Amino acid sequence: MNLVVVSNRVARGKTHEPMTGGLAAALLPVVEKSGAIWVGSSGRVRDGAQKEPFAEIEALGAGALAMLDLPAAHYGGYYEGFANSALWPALHSRSDLIRASHEDYFSYREVNSFMAKALLRFQKPDTAFWIQDYHFLALGAELRDLGVTQPIGFFLHTPWPDRAVIGGVPHHRELVEAMLAYDLIGFQTQDDCDNFLGYLAADLGLAIENHVVTSRYGKSHVQVFPIGIDPQKFAEQSAKAVSHPDVSRLRRSLHGEKLAIGVDRLDYSKGLINRIKAFDRMWTLQPALARTVSLLQIATPSRGAIEAYGNLQSELAKLVSDVNGQHGEVDWTPIRYLNKGFSQTVLAGLYRTAQVGVVTPLHDGMNLVAKEYVAAQNPADPGVLVLSKFAGAANELDTALLVNPNDIDGMARTIATAVSMPLTERRMRWEAMMEKLRAGTIQQWFADFVDALQETQADKAPPEPV
Ligand code: F6P
Repeated sequence: MNLVVVSNRVARGKTHEPMTGGLAAALLPVVEKSGAIWVGSSGRVRDGAQKEPFAEIEALGAGALAMLDLPAAHYGGYYEGFANSALWPALHSRSDLIRASHEDYFSYREVNSFMAKALLRFQKPDTAFWIQDYHFLALGAELRDLGVTQPIGFFLHTPWPDRAVIGGVPHHRELVEAMLAYDLIGFQTQDDCDNFLGYLAADLGLAIENHVVTSRYGKSHVQVFPIGIDPQKFAEQSAKAVSHPDVSRLRRSLHGEKLAIGVDRLDYSKGLINRIKAFDRMWTLQPALARTVSLLQIATPSRGAIEAYGNLQSELAKLVSDVNGQHGEVDWTPIRYLNKGFSQTVLAGLYRTAQVGVVTPLHDGMNLVAKEYVAAQNPADPGVLVLSKFAGAANELDTALLVNPNDIDGMARTIATAVSMPLTERRMRWEAMMEKLRAGTIQQWFADFVDALQETQADKAPPEPV
């Protein structure tokens, strides 16, 4: 089988080492090993009709990385518009932030159609397509319209919300109907899967049997595939990374003080405001923890052209500054706040340095930072993960200290508990989490999805005898 993996963002650059986490970082090692062709956006746009849409095609392991310049006239409406101002807020249950014009929807569909046409270049009789994430909900339907009959799978990296919330997205019906062109639709959690099936049953009136739904496209299988990491690789990386200059400098600056770490894209779904408020509350309620524990918060700028993101950036910067002003001392800064991305190697070293990992999104598909923080710990003296119960990762990492990110007081108390947790309890919790990480690696996730996609072909009609 020839596999073609498609995502909006791909791991770029000579070393292919992405500067921020998420989908691109997670996929890189497995796609590289699999020999698949990975197709995504080059990050640049181009005007007019394109004879050759691929800006760059380079080797990636035994396969290739193919990057397209997307159409200039539609990029804004597709990326900042429909994908990130209508779908993203809806998928993260922020109906109040949904902004969508019909032009944006049109651009979204145009980019999906543009990508479908470009993908034909890689189509062979034994090709299977695996489409990633909410940028390309309609790509399968576009491929079918072009006559593609090969298997097409789809995996959503974000949550899928309750049907009432998705019903707030203009054109939701058309889009979900288009998703049924996929042979296999994968979600991170059972809740996401149930919400999707609930929509199909209640809003589209479709019958679902054993997680299989039949539409005009044929059968679609709907299943759960929680994404993982490579815990062993991450552990090795983190042990080595402690000698990286950034990590050594951080260690030297701590003077015995304990460190909590948060690493997120600067996104309203990540619960950053509530997290900072929880630290503020903790230092207020337990002044003895001032100077004893500080927070390193990395908040990588993201989607800055969208108003909600610009507003969050200003609000967060002001809040951090207020909290530092309130609790800081001439020789102590409570929150080290950084608006930039770091390589995975450096992040692995930073995670290992921190006694507490704080991952407190309001809603998150999986959240791989939570898994990476755990894998990066020193087995002899592991740190404690404080994890939102609304991150997909909480289903597996249930021996983390689970918190409700809306309960600021509760989070403040839990962070304080994490800081002073005895070694035996830390090890017990950490070992249980490592076991889960080893049982659900990224390699396993990739193989499970590809196998399941192939299996969907078993119930397709056999070719007519010639
Ligand atoms: O969670 C969905 C996701 O695609 C992540 O995998 C990734 O971290 C993020 O969104 C990427 O956002 P963007 O490409 O807009 O920076």
